[in-house]
Formats: sequence, structure tokens, C-alpha cells
Amino acid sequence: MGRTSGERALWVTGGGSGMGRAVALAAAGAGWRVVVSGRRRDAVEQSAALVRERGGAALAVPVDVRDGADVRAAHARIVEQWGAVHDVVLSAGLNTPDRSWADQDVDELAAIVDTNLTGVARVVDAVLPGMREHGGGRVVVVSSLAAWRFSPGSGVAYMASKTAVGALCASLNDQEGAHGITACHLCPGDVDTDFLELRPEVPDADRRAGMLAPADVGRAVRFVLESPPRVRIDELVITPVGPR
Ligand SMILES: NC(=O)c1ccc[n+]([C@@H]2O[C@H](COP(=O)([O-])OP(=O)(O)OC[C@H]3O[C@@H](n4cnc5c(N)ncnc54)[C@H](OP(=O)(O)O)[C@@H]3O)[C@@H](O)[C@H]2O)c1
Repeated sequence: MGRTSGERALWVTGGGSGMGRAVALAAAGAGWRVVVSGRRRDAVEQSAALVRERGGAALAVPVDVRDGADVRAAHARIVEQWGAVHDVVLSAGLNTPDRSWADQDVDELAAIVDTNLTGVARVVDAVLPGMREHGGGRVVVVSSLAAWRFSPGSGVAYMASKTAVGALCASLNDQEGAHGITACHLCPGDVDTDFLELRPEVPDADRRAGMLAPADVGRAVRFVLESPPRVRIDELVITPVGPR
């Protein structure tokens, strides 16, 4: 393992773009070797290359968090290469432009819940035994402001899935704290990423200029990751300045 041996292994889902990529870059060479996962192989390989350019160690491991076998196989590959994962950041997410009861499709609702909630649970389930063996680890779930307060514009399925993931984080803190494991329910407001393309009305450049940058969230996640082991950050809300 050479120079990486003192570094913690961080697994980032949704790491091929947006906030996930920003997290990978914020952690790169700062105490973490980073596993980048997402469905698009080219995107995760690009993120891994950017991490290496910054002097960090990276593994690109494509995965679909909606596929349990795929998650288990990806986890096995990581463990084989780098040993048990120390920390995870769950940034993979899905939404749809059809956001109201009047126009949503229940199959699409299920896909959103499967990605935003069950997908998080699949990855956490895979890494927990290794974290317990390490005597601790951090789980950071990139949730949403829509989980922190009622945000009808974000959609029925999205709000439901992100709110539920907050409960998942609380249950981890309750049940796994004794093993030194902490979960942070991270709730960003608007962030200028590709995710905005999924809105019914895609924001223009002027509106995007008033949003958070992915790096702002990368910095916040790094703050959570590098907090002393005695510190648990249950929830973190991060929003752009100004009226909204
Ligand atoms: N942008 C915002 O304003 C905002 C605000 C609050 C919260 N969020 C949340 O932030 C998280 C990151 O989103 P982002 O804004 O950074 O947008 P993004 O760049 O579109 O990131 C979403 C990532 O999720 C991955 N993904 C989607 N489905 C997946 C699956 N089934 N398996 C594995 N990976 C999957 C995508 O990669 P592939 O397509 O390659 O799989 C993509 O890299 C999401 O959970 C989103 O809900 C976004």
C-alpha cells in the first residue's frame, strides 16, 4: 500500500460528478484515499484521475446503488484492494421533473426511493461490519434541505426519500455509536450541479450564480470527516446566502 498506508479509505457514491466529486477532491491527499463510485464508468474514472492529479490515491469502482449484488461486489473489490472502508459519503441521488401527485408515476417514485434511501442503506449495510472492526467510522449522507423543512417544489418522492434518510442516520447514531460509528444527515440547499437538469424548470446561469458551489459542500463534508472521534455532527444544514 506504500504511501497510502496511513490514510483512511473513503468510499464516495455519486462521486463521478457534482458534490460527490467535490468531496473526493476535498479529501484527496488530506488523510484519505478515495474510492469513487457511480454508474458512469467514464465519470468515476475522471474523478479518480482528478484525485490523483492532486496527489491523492484513488480507485474508480463503478456501481449502481439500486443493485444489491453490484454494491456487494463493489465492496468486495474495495476490501480486496484497500481493506475495510473507514468512512463513507453517500451522494448518489435521483429526482424527476414530475413532482406532484397530479403528474408523478409511482414506479418512478419507487426508483427515487430505491436510490435515495435504499441505495444508502445498501452501501451502509456493506461497510458497517468493517467499520465496527476498525472501532469506528463516519457515514455522511448528502440529503437535502427538503428533508429539513417542507419543500414542496422538490417533489413528493424526493421529499419522502430524503426525510426518511434522516431517520436512517438517527438510527445509525442510536445503534452504532457504541462502535464509534457516527452518521451525519447533511442538508444542502441549492447547489449548482447537473442535478438541476432534473427540475421542471432548469435554472439559468443567473440563478445558478446565486447557489452554492459543489466545493462548498466538499469543504463541509471534510469538516465532518476530520472532526475528532468524540464529536458527532448529527445534522448539518448548508444553504446559499440571501432570500429563498
Ligand atoms: N444540486 C442540488 O441543488 C442538491 C441540493 C440538495 C441535495 N442534493 C443531493 O445531492 C446529491 C448529489 O447530487 P449533485 O447535486 O451533486 O448532482 P449530480 O452531479 O447529478 O450527482 C448525482 C450523482 O448520483 C449518481 N447516481 C445516480 N443514481 C445512481 C445510482 N443508481 N447508483 C450510483 N450512483 C448514482 C450520479 O452518477 P451516475 O449517473 O453516473 O450514476 C451522479 O454522479 C444527491 O443525492 C442530491 O439529491 C442536490
